[in-house]
Order: sequence, then C-alpha cells, then structure tokens
Amino acid sequence: MNAPDISDPVRGLFDWLAAARDRGEPDPQTATLATVDPAFAKPSVRTINVQIDNDTLVFFVNAHTGKGQHLQWHPYAALCFFWHGLQQQVNIEGVVEALGDVEADHLWAQRSRESQLTARSSEQHAVFGDPDAFLERREREREAYDFERVPRPEHWVAYRLVPTRLEFWAAGWHRLHPRRLFERAPDGGWQSAVQEP
Ligand SMILES: Cc1cc2nc3c(=O)[nH]c(=O)nc-3n(C[C@H](O)[C@H](O)[C@H](O)COP(=O)(O)O)c2cc1C
Repeated sequence: MNAPDISDPVRGLFDWLAAARDRGEPDPQTATLATVDPAFAKPSVRTINVQIDNDTLVFFVNAHTGKGQHLQWHPYAALCFFWHGLQQQVNIEGVVEALGDVEADHLWAQRSRESQLTARSSEQHAVFGDPDAFLERREREREAYDFERVPRPEHWVAYRLVPTRLEFWAAGWHRLHPRRLFERAPDGGWQSAVQEP
C-alpha cells in the first residue's frame, strides 16, 4: 500500500483522491456520509459529493433533512470513500463545523444556476406529493431571479469535516487487505498503527 505520511494523513487522502481521478474513476469525490440522530442514538447513511476547499473536506446539506438536523444537534460524522478501480477505501471520522456565510456563498456560486434553482425550490425533507407544485415553485424562483444572481437559501448549509481518525485500506490477495490507521494524538499530531488485515 502506498501509505500516507504520518505528518499529514489528510494530505494522503487527497493523494488517493487524485490517484482515483487520474485513473478515470467516475465520481471519485462521491462518498457515504454517516450521521447520528441524537434523539434515538440511531445512525443513518447516504451518498454525498465531497468538495476539497482550501485543503479541507466540505459538503452541503439541506438543513431541514435528516442529516441536516443530525449535524445541527450532534456535530460528528463519518465519511467512507471507495474507489472501485483502485480497490482502495478511506474511512474518516471527525467533527463537523458549519462554514460561515462568506465561505458558503463562495461555494454556492460555483454551482450551476439550474442546480441553485432546484436547491432553492426543493423541500428535500418532505414527501414528494405534487410534482407540479415543485415545478411551479422552481419556475417562480427562476422568474424572481431572472438576470440576477440566485441567492443561497438559508437552509443550504456547507459543513467542513475536521478528521480525527482516518483508516486507509487497500485490497490484497486472499483477503490480506493492508490497513493503516491514523488517530489524532493528545499533542495535536497524529499517531499511526498498521492493522491486521
Ligand atoms: C451520487 C450522489 C451524490 C449526492 N450528493 C449529495 C450532496 O452533495 N448533498 C446532499 O444533500 N445530497 C446528495 N445526494 C442525495 C443524498 O444521498 C440523499 O438522498 C438526500 O440528501 C437526503 O438525505 P437524508 O434524508 O438522509 O438527509 C446525492 C446522491 C447521490 C446518489
């Protein structure tokens, strides 16, 4: 395994992401996000797109959805990247921080206008009762911001995951899968262990 440097395993994650992109992996920045519902201590997962912003891991959620509520009340999350072509996986656990308005607006501005209109109109947490009502809301948004910048809705929140634990995994022969774990040490550095396959 091309093991990351102990001084900066997050950089190692970015190197693996770059390798997946270079290999032509479709959607290399797609990952599984796990959050916990603090009311019932129940985990839940879904697929999201992760962006690298200023060398940090950032993703967006609708604050009204399950994950949006979970992260608001319990700011811990885990991400799992798996790149089929590389046969490599990285599991990351950490603390989430909501980005401020300036940073979130900057990331919002990188989205296409159509995607912004959908994000503004979608009640992602609701049962989809009437497709026409959704399309009408979307058209009203389009008319409201004709020839104008589409503003980021308040419920569109960008989070940064600050990793405290990363596990790098690579497929090996006969289920001998090398794994290397990095955990934040009390002094702020990283401690690392090679794990049994
Ligand atoms: C490839 C892919 C990428 C996705 N990216 C995002 C994303 O970046 N943000 C997001 O909120 N939902 C994204 N979704 C939708 C989520 O998986 C999920 O269905 C939705 O956000 C509702 O999640 P929740 O009810 O568990 O909170 C994506 C789905 C797929 C399949």
